[in-house]
Amino acid sequence: MRLKDQVAVVTGSSTGIGRAVAERFAREGADVVINYRKSADEAAECLKAVEAAGRRGLVVQADMADVSAVRRLVDQTVEEFGRIDIMVANAGVEKETPVLEIDEEHWDWIMDINLKGAFFAAQTAAKHMAKRFDAEGVGGRIIFMSSVHEEIPFPLHAAYCASKGGLKLLCRGLAVELGHKQITVNNVCPGAIKTPINAPLLSNKERIKDLLAQTPLGRIGETDDVTGIVTFLASEEARFVTGSSYFVDGGLTWHYEE
Ligand code: NAI
Repeated sequence: MRLKDQVAVVTGSSTGIGRAVAERFAREGADVVINYRKSADEAAECLKAVEAAGRRGLVVQADMADVSAVRRLVDQTVEEFGRIDIMVANAGVEKETPVLEIDEEHWDWIMDINLKGAFFAAQTAAKHMAKRFDAEGVGGRIIFMSSVHEEIPFPLHAAYCASKGGLKLLCRGLAVELGHKQITVNNVCPGAIKTPINAPLLSNKERIKDLLAQTPLGRIGETDDVTGIVTFLASEEARFVTGSSYFVDGGLTWHYEE
């Protein structure tokens, strides 16, 4: 139980990595706020899993592209649980689009969710954490679900890469500004994990073959490959860890090709 009695928010937690993190956090002893935009049924399933682990959960519908909804998510958490210890800004989207065809709508859609929404989720949580630090000397944990593409390019995903590249420096910037309030800020950078976001890749045998050839550990990741590092970063054990990115990618980022 590495997160005993902590209060965590995980954005975009009705599916994929976010859901696995929410369920793992509950098994580690945390109460969890589950956020979804459209998939109420899947969010309800996640709530059931949190409760089955013996913890309290709260489901909040909120669109992470809408700053007032992001703030409402955090405020509802504090109203319900009295505080927020951990914010995992996980919600994200991507869509293959050739760079010459990216229009303003596509750019804004990606940026509003992946970068602006993540920033305001972190900022709103940090305001509560900072107040708590002033009152009780306890800070908090912010974790951005970034990507290997905060570091390496991805053809047909220029806006997505820009959003994750933005998270790289956002993490560093928040870490240096918020350290004096004992708020840590870190990025988790997955690479090719089996989730709905990768449906186009997972349905294409040729692309899977290429990907495996570029992955030293020789397989595609599972959501539970990611939850361990997120749990560590959220835990007391990571109290001196801030401003860094942790790659969970089977070696994909640094693979070497002749
Ligand atoms: P996913 O598609 O299952 O999860 C994304 C979640 O974000 C979904 O639950 C979706 O409903 C939610 N979401 C999307 N737009 C939203 C909005 N406007 N408001 C609230 N929620 C919204 O896919 P996955 O893989 O679990 O993605 C989670 C995060 O991990 C994303 O930020 C993604 O960029 C990142 N990631 C995933 C990788 C992978 O290989 N699966 C690799 C690198 C990064």
